[in-house]
Amino acid sequence: MEEVTGIRYVTPLREGGSVPGVVEADDLGTYVVKFVGAAQGRKALVAEVIAGELARRLGLRVPLLVRFQFDPVIGLGEPDQEIQDLLKASGGLNLGMDFLPGALGFDPLVFEVESAEAGRIVWFDALVGNVDRSWRNPNMLVWHQDLWLIDHGASLIFHHNWKGADQAADKPYDAADHALARFAPDIESAARDLAPRVDEALLREVTAQIPDEWLVDEPGFAGPDEVRRAYERVLLARAGTVGERIVLAPKQQEKQAPPEWLRTWVEGKAAK
Ligand SMILES: Nc1ncnc2c1ncn2[C@@H]1O[C@H](COP(=O)(O)OP(=O)(O)OP(=O)(O)O)[C@@H](O)[C@H]1O
Ligand SMILES: [Mg+2]
Repeated sequence: MEEVTGIRYVTPLREGGSVPGVVEADDLGTYVVKFVGAAQGRKALVAEVIAGELARRLGLRVPLLVRFQFDPVIGLGEPDQEIQDLLKASGGLNLGMDFLPGALGFDPLVFEVESAEAGRIVWFDALVGNVDRSWRNPNMLVWHQDLWLIDHGASLIFHHNWKGADQAADKPYDAADHALARFAPDIESAARDLAPRVDEALLREVTAQIPDEWLVDEPGFAGPDEVRRAYERVLLARAGTVGERIVLAPKQQEKQAPPEWLRTWVEGKAAK
């Protein structure tokens, strides 16, 4: 990832739970900055990097990610005390994402998605265990008639419990509430195309993008590279078969037989 430095804090994005900021940088670009001092913590930023860079390499659209150096001094004009505290806690390295001007939030009732694209996105979300793409909160933007994926901070939840991470590889993915569930996602084709591409070399390339700063001092690991290998191991194991464990429709409630008393009562009524 390239590195840029913030020069002007423009505005907070209050619709996001972590209150990202729109910040201009020294390369004249405008970025959405996810702050390292937010309650979600640095692991949310690691998840953004891994999921975002993986999605991009699988041909999905994700805004460019950058290392974003932020000096809280440039945010001193922000009047809201809570945001002021967030900025003060975020001096140094943060995550920047190219700001897509004029992008609209995805609305599944207005925008049509082809089943091939829906399948690739659902398969990818299953791979990284993304629970944050429901129709209530789609975390997709429509920009120049295309679908762009954002907000992967809540994926890869296995990194909150490394001891159980290997079992995470076999977990099913519940896509019943997924924002794209109604577009007949073609999971089979997506899995056939994408699963073989998620190999060791690709995953190494992806984890190499994570800044060391966000991996140091991870309990149970000797250093950042060991943590990178752990992410690669889980994702590699999951990629092979996750397509078979995507649940698109809620399980049909098994029809229970009516109790004996009800049946005799109904039959008695019918006989009258
Ligand atoms: N690259 C971008 N370009 C334009 N707008 C963006 C971009 N990234 C985010 N936004 C806007 O900011 C909002 C918040 O971003 P995001 O969902 O990533 O933040 P969050 O704090 O993780 O939110 P959540 O509450 O969903 O966890 C988005 O819903 C979208 O409207
Ligand atoms: Mg969001």
